[in-house]
Amino acid sequence: MSVDIMKDIMNLSKNRGFVFQNSEIYGGLANTWDYGPLGSELKNNIKKAWWKFFIQDREDMVGLDAAILMNPRVWEASGHVSNFNDPLVDCKECKERFRADHLVEKTLNIPTANLTLKELNDLIQEKDDIVCPSCGKRNFTPARTFNLMFKTHQGVIETDKNIIYMRPETAQGIFVNFKNVLNSSRKKVPFGIGQIGKAFRNEITPGNFIFRTREFEQMEIEFFVEPGTELEWHEKWMEASKIFFTKILGIKEENLQFREHDPKELAHYANKTVDIEYKFPFGWGELEGIASRTNFDLSRHSEFSNEQLNYHDSKTGNTYIPYVIEPSFGADRTFLTVLIDAYTVETLPDGKERTVLKFAKNIAPVQIAVFPLKKNEPSIVNQSREIIKMLQKKFTVAYDDTAAIGKLYRRQDEIGTPYCITVDFDTVEKDQKVTVRNRDTMEQERIAIKDLPAYFEKEFEVEW
Ligand code: GLY
Repeated sequence: MSVDIMKDIMNLSKNRGFVFQNSEIYGGLANTWDYGPLGSELKNNIKKAWWKFFIQDREDMVGLDAAILMNPRVWEASGHVSNFNDPLVDCKECKERFRADHLVEKTLNIPTANLTLKELNDLIQEKDDIVCPSCGKRNFTPARTFNLMFKTHQGVIETDKNIIYMRPETAQGIFVNFKNVLNSSRKKVPFGIGQIGKAFRNEITPGNFIFRTREFEQMEIEFFVEPGTELEWHEKWMEASKIFFTKILGIKEENLQFREHDPKELAHYANKTVDIEYKFPFGWGELEGIASRTNFDLSRHSEFSNEQLNYHDSKTGNTYIPYVIEPSFGADRTFLTVLIDAYTVETLPDGKERTVLKFAKNIAPVQIAVFPLKKNEPSIVNQSREIIKMLQKKFTVAYDDTAAIGKLYRRQDEIGTPYCITVDFDTVEKDQKVTVRNRDTMEQERIAIKDLPAYFEKEFEVEW
């Protein structure tokens, strides 16, 4: 798959209402995107599928919806105030800003994860090969650290005392509610808490459409386990994640890989992380990180707050601070993956091309489209409306009468609608049957109206 595919997908996203550039009428805001009518349906379906699979259908999981703004002490305890930094340099000539580590890594071809700020600075000053990627000159400011959290002020007065942060991960909302959830839900370790929500990072190098943006949505789980059992649980969460991507979202297995983090790459809270990566047109990219976060967060919050965030096991009599396995999914990246993996251009027997989004049926933004063969024939239109009413109880159904049937099929292919129903004269005058057309095979069959709910029930069943 070439990088040109990204252009095609961005065009299709705009033309069909999946993703729009944010504030477009004002020239946009860099790396900020909005989900359109079909995009918001698709994204909601992905989030609903995640919530059902990982939370509602499991006895060892519960959900949470914590606020974006939190007491700033949370981010001191979590280590984000002191550790969540990127080293940056500015080019004094063209005023562009760069990641100092990326500059060194790319030019000298050496790993930089272990280098201090001073070592990075020394290399940038000493090595003549390191030039500004924008203007080619060598006139950099000293590298300095730049915290990735967005800051704002709570209240009307803007002083250092009322700085608060836009959360850089949803995870901390879960950790600080550990005791609340434990006491209210009566769950016993091992159990987990999941939530979906926005997070913000002031990244210096966002890009690749919705892959890396400064405002993004996470689907995160913190799964609390007895110390010593974390690796076993890490393994189980890798298996569950793979099922989610391949069976629930229908991503092709050959486009996914597990990649374990090199020890130098690990985040400050993790002792093991494995990413699930997707083969994007621009290279392999992380979709989900499965981190073993030890008891770092609960220990730090116990230290910084007035609460001991431990767990008493009534069976063994032991009290301990649970270890944590964190499967952390990017919702926007998952959306992009679903879109790319579904995107297919086929040549038909008549030599014409058709573009089709082969979404897993259960997450398609429109699941069934209904067309009246003749839009001015009241009996056909009324019958179509009745079918929609009947199917809407279970499925997302759309009505379209704005073109000839062949064109309507192509349009639904392009937005990934798995089934189209056509209501014709025979339906209303003769047999009470409709034509059902399958998106992938393009085959058509006549099905009695009364059998449609059972037919689609079976067709939309998810097996894993
Ligand atoms: N909570 C892990 C992450 O945001 O990457």
